[in-house]
Amino acid sequence: MKKIRFLVMLLAAAMIFAFPLAGCSKQSESEEPAEAETETEAETTEEEGSVIDYMVLVNQSNQLPDGWEEALETTTVTNSVGDEVYVEKKAYEAYCQLKEAVEKDLEGYEKGEVKFELDSAYRSVAAQQKIVDEFTEKYGEDYVRKYVAVPGYSEHHTGLALDLYFTIDGKDVYENEDLVQYPDIWEAVHARLPEFGFILRFPESGEAITGYAYEPWHIRYLDSPEIAKEITDKGVTLEEYLGK
Ligand code: DAL
Ligand code: ZN
Repeated sequence: MKKIRFLVMLLAAAMIFAFPLAGCSKQSESEEPAEAETETEAETTEEEGSVIDYMVLVNQSNQLPDGWEEALETTTVTNSVGDEVYVEKKAYEAYCQLKEAVEKDLEGYEKGEVKFELDSAYRSVAAQQKIVDEFTEKYGEDYVRKYVAVPGYSEHHTGLALDLYFTIDGKDVYENEDLVQYPDIWEAVHARLPEFGFILRFPESGEAITGYAYEPWHIRYLDSPEIAKEITDKGVTLEEYLGK
């Protein structure tokens, strides 16, 4: 009897190691995010020679370049609210490093233990339309104009824009109106972005240029800590840096 119990325990342990929980230490990969949305376990189907431009500008007047989705390779992660999130592969690796660094910086935070999560990264045009519809119903058209891109013109189509949220002592802080209540946490995040190749994409100071209200949660991966530092130090938007 004891032997059987031991074997069952051994099998359970083996399964935990074979199928660890999704998170920065574990990932499944896919190249075609549109398909990945309908799959539970996506596969890598790497195509040699397809490289994306990490400095791409997608904004209110620039759509996603043709062929982008064919070249995009994503990592699929499941967040704390059970949603699958698709992130460009290198952006995801950098996010994991950022997460680790900021969580460490926030150790001892007065309101509890802070852990970062991904709300959203790559979004298809259809997924963006769903957000427009949901947010219009929830917050109204004025809010949507300020915070949500027209489908086809969202930086989220690139897979390089990440929306963060966090948990405090395991409790999700997820809705936009709750997230803005924690400027101290965002300050800690923003301070660490450039060294991992990210910028704050919609800063308060850039509203007239980006066309969007301040979004402390929306960060953009550029694959270059040097450029991210330059943009941050100069206090400019990506549009201004690119001269567009
Ligand atoms: N929240 C940003 C503007 C988007 O929807 O792409
Ligand atoms: Zn966003």
